[in-house]
Amino acid sequence: MSVIDNLFTAAKSARVNAYAPYSDFKVGAAILAEDGTVFPGCNVENAAYPQGVCAEAGAINAMILAGQTRIAEVLVIADAALCTPCGGCRQKLNEFADQSVKVHVANLDGVRRTFTVGELLPAGFELNEKN
Ligand code: THU
Repeated sequence: MSVIDNLFTAAKSARVNAYAPYSDFKVGAAILAEDGTVFPGCNVENAAYPQGVCAEAGAINAMILAGQTRIAEVLVIADAALCTPCGGCRQKLNEFADQSVKVHVANLDGVRRTFTVGELLPAGFELNEKN
């Protein structure tokens, strides 16, 4: 199986377990870490709405917990025309990914578009020393 096929399968099955009773919008994500491990994630909503967590954030947390710190490729899936990562998740991905890292956006049938992290978040925040 190709990398994209692996990410698609992982994200699609993660999406099944998404907890999204408030939005009824289930999202799955899969992150390929630089060591070749795939980390899935799904969105987990909360009755206190802002406490909900996006699928990408769950996958990032799993990657960090496993000791991996660099993202090689990402796939996000939802039953939607184009579920691109939200602004906050773009910044979260940027923390662990080079600008050239591919982010595939899929619906239930397959990948619909591919972006790079740099395309999704130009001029993302970087914590630099003061001048
Ligand atoms: N959601 C994600 O999980 N990832 C995104 O990049 C976009 C939005 C979730 C958050 C919320 O649970 C639901 O989709 C509707 O906004």
